[in-house]
Amino acid sequence: MIAALPALADHLAAVEGAMTAALASREPRVATLIGQLGPFHGKLLRPSLCLLVAESLGGADTRHHALGAALELIHSATLVHDDLIDDAGTRRGRDTAHVTHGNTTAVLLGDFMYTRAFSMVAELGELELVTRLCAATNTVCEGELHQQMSARDADLSEDEYRRIIYGKTAALTELAGFFGALAGDEPVRRAAAAFGRDLGMAFQIVDDCLDLSGDPQKVGKTLATDLERGRVTLPLIRVLAAALPEERANLEQRLLRAEGREQVESARRLIAERGGVASAMTTARELAAAAKAHLLRLPDSTARTQLAELADFVVARDF
Ligand code: IPE
Ligand code: IPE
Ligand code: MG
Ligand code: MG
Repeated sequence: MIAALPALADHLAAVEGAMTAALASREPRVATLIGQLGPFHGKLLRPSLCLLVAESLGGADTRHHALGAALELIHSATLVHDDLIDDAGTRRGRDTAHVTHGNTTAVLLGDFMYTRAFSMVAELGELELVTRLCAATNTVCEGELHQQMSARDADLSEDEYRRIIYGKTAALTELAGFFGALAGDEPVRRAAAAFGRDLGMAFQIVDDCLDLSGDPQKVGKTLATDLERGRVTLPLIRVLAAALPEERANLEQRLLRAEGREQVESARRLIAERGGVASAMTTARELAAAAKAHLLRLPDSTARTQLAELADFVVARDF
């Protein structure tokens, strides 16, 4: 849980309960596997966003608990698969699922989580909610594919990078805002979704900066995987954009073809020294400010203030 949100503790406990119930299996061998995963959630950003918006519009209820749990399950499923793709060993301070249980189990576990999340929302009996969850999850998969297909491309534009991070991250936070605002009128729903979208964009840019300059102990996951996988993230795009024409080829080689610990470490230092991380963080802060501006369409309340604090947290975090 995000420390600034103690007021949400009861609601978040209900979300966790809904996730545990959703993942239950009558098959003892499967239930044992699920039990071994421990408390399977992270900072709970997506449910927190949904719940706070709901709180600002008259109060969160059991429907929001189910929607928050589904959002966190979808997000967690993408991480189980993402860690396998990245061959990352640590997630949320623990060994990753593919390391502990093997690749096959990790693929199947991710599928199990996705499909239980869809069932949970389908059980609410409202077609629009399922349709939106399916569309957003599909956008996440498309974003991950888009990222994969643009690896090591030094010509990736900032606009295309933004489309990738919208897909892989901000589409789901946008939906979290929308789900929170179900009780609102159309302009309020749109504003809550836009808040979630801009917050998600800022969040992913900060994540991309943390990958290059974060402390793995604090972040609780394997870092520097973006460079190893040749992912063209905003700090790197900014360094390439500012490069002199005569150094460009050399920089592309060092930043996009880094192999092994030493080269990756040197690429990491280079991006920081050239101001790539600082420049990307400025953009993240602008997006967080844009997110906060959307909040003005929500009624003034303690929960709305906490949403603004959530936006501040996203760009100030070191985990
Ligand atoms: C990690 O998300 C993946 C990204 C979208 C950047 P979080 O940082 O929200 O992960 P957890 O859920 O808190 O572990
Ligand atoms: C992928 O983003 C997570 C998804 C949104 C599917 P990252 O690869 O940056 O996530 P981390 O850094 O491993 O948490
Ligand atoms: Mg990853
Ligand atoms: Mg990352």
